[in-house]
Amino acid sequence: MHVLTSLAELQSWRSSLAHAPIFVPTMGNLHQGHLALVHQAKSLSSNNEAHVVVSIFVNRLQFLPNEDFNTYPRTMAQDVQLLTGAGCDAIFAPSELDLYPEPQTFHVVPPPALANDLEGEFRPGFFTGVCTVVHKLFNLVQPQAAVFGKKDYQQLMLIRRMVAQMALPIAIVGAETWRDHDGLALSSRNGYLSPQERTQASQLFAALQHIKTNVNALLQNLQLTHANLLDLQSQAMHALTVSGWQPDYVQIRKKQDLSLPSQQDEADMPPLVALAAARLGNTRLIDNLELN
Ligand code: PAF
Repeated sequence: MHVLTSLAELQSWRSSLAHAPIFVPTMGNLHQGHLALVHQAKSLSSNNEAHVVVSIFVNRLQFLPNEDFNTYPRTMAQDVQLLTGAGCDAIFAPSELDLYPEPQTFHVVPPPALANDLEGEFRPGFFTGVCTVVHKLFNLVQPQAAVFGKKDYQQLMLIRRMVAQMALPIAIVGAETWRDHDGLALSSRNGYLSPQERTQASQLFAALQHIKTNVNALLQNLQLTHANLLDLQSQAMHALTVSGWQPDYVQIRKKQDLSLPSQQDEADMPPLVALAAARLGNTRLIDNLELN
């Protein structure tokens, strides 16, 4: 496996390839969920003819000043080992100076209706940081396809939109969320949880499952209304709060564009997804579940 730590090394590797690679962007501190993205990336390549490249870059632009940029776990040696085992062809791990040789004053700014909603409401500027670095990484890697986890559902949707509107010739593939035995979605930030918090952490997924069970029961009885959806959201917020969480949001949205389902949708309810973000102690977790 190639470990490419500069733009020059990436460019030299990239120009040796017969086919555009398949790309998995990450911030490192890899876990089984990331390795599943790599496996999915490998499966996209017929006869293994396209190489898989994983980027590892903790992107300062997507962290708020009070967030964990400085303490975000950097575990390069372990990541290299895991990716070697997963059959990855190359890691692109540029330095900050390589990717941002001068302050990044040009940004890819998603439309406010998407960027300031859900995660964006609680992490202003986050999606500008994500879209800017992903666009830049796409320009450097020039992949034919890129794989993103559905765990970051809103991020995946924004990247799909960005690629479509910017006419980037890259297929965006969404990969299912990888969960621990109790349902907790794998995340690098799970490592911040204390043992006591870890036992509680599956309550976030349980809250989403409760919504899913109820939505499907109501749908079956032709009783799913806009009011029911609002009620289920409030119940989930309440259940998390009484269990000691500080929820930022639990929202049921239309899968297609993450807009709010309305009363007009009651007659023919479109596919829905429940999305949640909540803090347990000092750790903020996000998760989501497709409902119907
Ligand atoms: O999902 C992530 O790990 C990051 O947001 C990404 C896509 C690698 C951009 O920094």
